[in-house]
Order: sequence, then structure tokens, then C-alpha cells
Amino acid sequence: MKILTIIGARPQFVKEAIIQNEISKYNDIKEIVVHTGQHYDNNMSGIFFDVLNMKKPEYNLGIKASKHGEMTGKMLIMLEDIMIKETPDIVLLYGDTNSTLAGAIAASKLKIKIAHVEAGLRQEPKDMPEETNRVLTDRISDYLFTPSELGIENLKREGITNNVYFTGDVMYDVFLKMKPKFDYSLLSILNLEKDKYIMMTMHRDFNVDFPEKLEKILKGVNKISNEMKVVLPLHPRTKKRIKEFGLEQEIQNVKIIEPIDYLKLMGLTENCFKVITDSGGYQKEAYFAGKQAVIIMPDTSWRELTDSGLNKLTNEENIYNHIVNIEKKDYVKDIYGNGKAAENIISILKKS
Ligand code: UD1
Repeated sequence: MKILTIIGARPQFVKEAIIQNEISKYNDIKEIVVHTGQHYDNNMSGIFFDVLNMKKPEYNLGIKASKHGEMTGKMLIMLEDIMIKETPDIVLLYGDTNSTLAGAIAASKLKIKIAHVEAGLRQEPKDMPEETNRVLTDRISDYLFTPSELGIENLKREGITNNVYFTGDVMYDVFLKMKPKFDYSLLSILNLEKDKYIMMTMHRDFNVDFPEKLEKILKGVNKISNEMKVVLPLHPRTKKRIKEFGLEQEIQNVKIIEPIDYLKLMGLTENCFKVITDSGGYQKEAYFAGKQAVIIMPDTSWRELTDSGLNKLTNEENIYNHIVNIEKKDYVKDIYGNGKAAENIISILKKS
């Protein structure tokens, strides 16, 4: 069987690491990996391949993130040519990025079977680019692998019931596998004490692309950092916006660092007090690490974590209050499977 895998953005490298590892156990599966180039800085891309021990992609399209339509269109054109040349049996896609959607459209037009890992997630606002990407990809996928039971229900509500499988979450597999390798070196470098700092990430367009909203968020975070250290590895989108809007002075007390690799991020997360984020993946990784998170979003696709009270949604006005007042909840085990998601996915595809 020949699988053509498409990746492009940071969280997809993490998910692919574990699937690649699983595929490598079989001599009768050949995997061709295409990196679209959506994320291209070394600390957003190359470093992940190094620390997660991944093979170099067979193709790198070098299509750097730009306007959504332009980026997706360029990917579609180049991916179609590669699919025609490689004639895969299955195109494997992850999550909700523009690279995912481009891969789905290209494969569908060529009548190549599509496998979508992280299918069935839904969240408001409906017009966020990631929601468009995941809804459309699910609609034309042939195998839908959901990380949670809720994913199955969401798909059922939209009339999608064929070839839907609850496999568990590949990110949980990665977390368990990589745990012995987590890198704690930044604790001493940044002079951090266990349980005495907050880890934060933020990159969503609806948070960072609007000056007033971004300013309010940064002010709230700065207020927190007067009481407890806040460490913020800064995503390039957020960095650009802070500069463009002249908001550098709003985060004087926040410990800003460059984006860091997976092992370092998990090392810092395991020892932090709480997490603040608007990342889909990171709010869940906080849970894997046993940390409660405040999420700067109107909604989340990981509802199990907010329904159980472990995580809390917030708007830009209430970040400080939520961090101070979040009620301590006991850890709930195995919401996202048992660490065998990759094994489940590949065994289903092998039977196809
Ligand atoms: C993308 C995904 C999102 C995912 C996130 C992880 C879409 C629609 N969104 O959002 O689902 O959670 O990746 O980070 O695909 N940039 C750089 N260097 C890089 C990468 C990006 O400078 O290595 C800049 C881009 O040029 C662009 C901005 O950051 O100006 C945003 O990048 P983009 O890939 O469009 O979206 P993300 O916000 O990263």
C-alpha cells in the first residue's frame, strides 16, 4: 500500500511523527511525505523533524504562508501534480490547516481515497479558517479518524456515519512516547521554579489580528505577570502583529522567547502552574501534562476538557480573573484514548 501524507504546519509535524513511526513497522506500506512549506522557520518546522526523529519529507513545496486563498491554491496545483506522479492508494491528512484542505481537494478530484486524522472536531466561530478547513475535509474524506467520542457524534449530526472510527488522539500517543525525552533545560536557563510560572501560547487570527483585542489580552497577561512569571514562546504571526500595532510596551513583564521545539515545550509545561493558550493542540497537551488551562477562545473543539471543568474558556477581558479563580479539578483519565491511536489508524488502513 502506498500512502501519501501531507503536512505543513507545526502541529502536523508532531502528529505525523507517531504515524510515521507506526508505518515503519510494516514492510508492505510505503509512505511518501509532502511538506507544503506553510511553516518554514527552523523553529516552526525543521527543529521538529530533528527532535521527533522524523524522516526528511520526499517533497518540500516551499509554499510559505501567505493569504489563505493564494496559499491553498498554490498547494492544490502542486499537490495534484505530485499525486498524479505518485499514484498513492491513500492520501493521509491531519487536522484543520490550509495544507489539509488543499490535500483533500486535490485527492478528491483525482478520486484518491482520503484518510483524515482528527476528524469530527467542531467549534465556533464557524468562519474561522480552521473550521472551514476541517468541515470541508471531513465532507470528502473516505476514512474519518476521530480523537474523541464527541467527534463521532458531531459527524453523525452532519449525516456522516460511514467509515468513522474513534481511534483516540495521536497527540496523546506522541506525548506518552516522548515523555522520557522531554527537555527541562529551559527551567534553569530562564530561571523558573516548579509550579511558579505560567506557560502561554497565542496565535489565532481572531485574537491577534485586531489591535484593541490584542491590547486587552496583553494587558491581562501583563497583570498576571506582576504576580507570577509568564513564559510566552512567541508565534511569528503574533510577533508581527505586536510590532505592527506598537504593543511591545504592553508585555514588558512577560518572558518572551522564540518558538521552541516539542520536547522543550513539554518540559516547561510539565513543571508550570497553569497554561494560557488559544491553540487547539496545546490546550490538550496541557491536560496530558496534568495542567489546567485557560483558553482565549469563544469555543473549543476539545469540549470534554471544558465540560469537566479542567479547562476554562475566556474572552479578552477576563484572562486575569480566570487564571486566579479557576477551580481546581481532579484529573480525568484517558479522555482521548489509551495511547494507541496510531496503531488503530494504521491497522484500519491496512484492512482497506
Ligand atoms: C496555522 C493553522 C492553524 C494551526 C497553526 C499552528 C491554518 C489556517 N491555520 O495557523 O490551524 O493551529 O498553524 O501554528 O492553516 N509564519 C512565519 N514563519 C513560519 C510560519 C508562519 O513567519 O514558520 C507567519 C506566516 O508568514 C504568516 C503567519 O505566521 O504571516 C501565520 O501563518 P499561517 O500558517 O498562515 O497560520 P498560523 O496562524 O500559523
